[in-house]
Amino acid sequence: MSAQCVMICSGKGGTGKSTVSVLLGAGLSRLGRKVLLVELDSGLRSVDIIAGVYGRTVYDIEDVLCGRCEPAKAIVPSPLYAGLSVISAPYEGGEVAAVPLGRLLQAVRPYFDFILLDTAAGMGAPFTAAATVADRALLVLTPDPVALRDGKIVADRLLAGGRPQSAVRLVMNRVTRESFGKRASVEDLDECIDTVGAQLIAVIPESVALQQAGAAGAVPPVHDAAVVAGQALAKRLCGQRVPLTF
Ligand SMILES: Nc1ncnc2c1ncn2[C@@H]1O[C@H](COP(=O)(O)OP(=O)(O)OP(=O)(O)O)[C@@H](O)[C@H]1O
Ligand SMILES: [Mg+2]
Repeated sequence: MSAQCVMICSGKGGTGKSTVSVLLGAGLSRLGRKVLLVELDSGLRSVDIIAGVYGRTVYDIEDVLCGRCEPAKAIVPSPLYAGLSVISAPYEGGEVAAVPLGRLLQAVRPYFDFILLDTAAGMGAPFTAAATVADRALLVLTPDPVALRDGKIVADRLLAGGRPQSAVRLVMNRVTRESFGKRASVEDLDECIDTVGAQLIAVIPESVALQQAGAAGAVPPVHDAAVVAGQALAKRLCGQRVPLTF
């Protein structure tokens, strides 16, 4: 086993990176894959709550990258999803750098099928470090002009590093019927794809159930439309052909 490393990024904050990271991690684990989700967003952690590991973490990614503890000590299995484990971000401080992150990946790759790197908003240290080590990137954006414009800047940065176009994919999140049309600020999904310049890999609908489950550290209902879309995204990352529906 040698894990594929996928970074989750956006540019704009609050587009749903952490929510989609857990949704994807849960979807991959349902397919029998072993997944490590690493949250790189120092000071603004949320994956611990969404994945149900809140209060179970002793060590965080900062401890691992500084060499204060072995990676195994910071890896916490999610009690919600068998097969999904998490390394949390620290509550404060710490700068993520590419070299120690690369070292961590090398150490844990043999034990997982997928390593998901949930980055922070913007293109600071967590983004740069993740972009250096990740095999592919998922841009999680909401259907609004600001998120799309920032997403374009992020996509350009990722592609400027020599990454193939196919290694940068777009996930449109929090989509509703009202997101598009003449009276909305975005015409349709094609406009999202054209603006960002990345191929669409998933459309995740707005879901109150997903939001509530995330805040409560609970499993969202499996038949919820956002969970079904997350499962389809997981299948596509595993190479299965699943039609994109919205
Ligand atoms: N598909 C969705 N339906 C409903 N709510 C969602 C959806 N995706 C995300 N949210 C909500 O949006 C908010 C922001 O989500 P999240 O924390 O995952 O974003 P983020 O991109 O990780 O933010 P940050 O940039 O601060 O790291 C949360 O309240 C989350 O529950
Ligand atoms: Mg986040």
